Amino acid sequence: MQVFREIKPLRAYLDAKRAEQATIGLVPTMGALHEGHLSLVKGSVDDNDITVTSIFVNPVQFNNPGDLAHYPRTLDEDLAMLQRYKGQVVFHPSANEVYKQEPMITLGFGPLGKTLEGQFRPGHFHGVGMVVAKLFNIVKPHRAYFGQKDLQQFAVIRRLVEDFSFDVELKCMPIIREPDGLALSSRNKRLDPDERQKAAKLYEALGIAHDLYRRRVSPDQVKKEVEGFFSMSDVTLEYFEIVNASSLNPLQSTFANEPVALCIAAYVGEVRLIDNLIIGNEY
Ligand code: PAF
Repeated sequence: MQVFREIKPLRAYLDAKRAEQATIGLVPTMGALHEGHLSLVKGSVDDNDITVTSIFVNPVQFNNPGDLAHYPRTLDEDLAMLQRYKGQVVFHPSANEVYKQEPMITLGFGPLGKTLEGQFRPGHFHGVGMVVAKLFNIVKPHRAYFGQKDLQQFAVIRRLVEDFSFDVELKCMPIIREPDGLALSSRNKRLDPDERQKAAKLYEALGIAHDLYRRRVSPDQVKKEVEGFFSMSDVTLEYFEIVNASSLNPLQSTFANEPVALCIAAYVGEVRLIDNLIIGNEY
């Protein structure tokens, strides 16, 4: 396994591999790896000769300094996990290596960046778009792998690729869950045992909403039911929305013939978690 901390030698290494016709998959991560990340790595290893896993806690995408400070960092464990996969290249740069200067460009993403997460995390998608664009330019992957858990992030990156004509195929990989339904996330590491138990409420709420939706209960009424479910618990709902899974526009009726996503964000103690469920057509 090759580990690079600088852009120049990574580029030289990948240029040489590309000249040998090797295909390159990119798995962007912020580390604290879990089975969800590893499913992206496995997907890339199956499809490509080389997989570049980037491990970089991107300061530009954090609007909350406390969240950035507490974001779990587990490099040694991460490297040990990646060691198991063939063709692994790890890119673990410093913040100065990635951001030689503060970016002058601001990425907006219009309505796609303002809804759901965008309402509560100003500047977040600018930061995600910025670092992903940099990674695409540094690694020049044939394919890049992202998790469905960050559904809005995937939608935003799809627009980034379209708007900047990046020559990369995007893959959205399914959510990996714990037996009680909790979606795997690096932030789960911050939950104490009591909070960990309560965190399953997000998935429970998605299940209730899915059931109501199937019974043609109106989106407004489903929202009210979910809000009621959380008002009786000590998990604090930030939002629950029923949206078109691609445009992320709110759904007006349960009779819509379009891929639908149920999206949720909630605080369990200090830890903010998100989850979603796609209904009907695969994303
Ligand atoms: O999903 C994440 O972990 C991050 O947002 C990403 C895509 C690695 C960019 O920092």
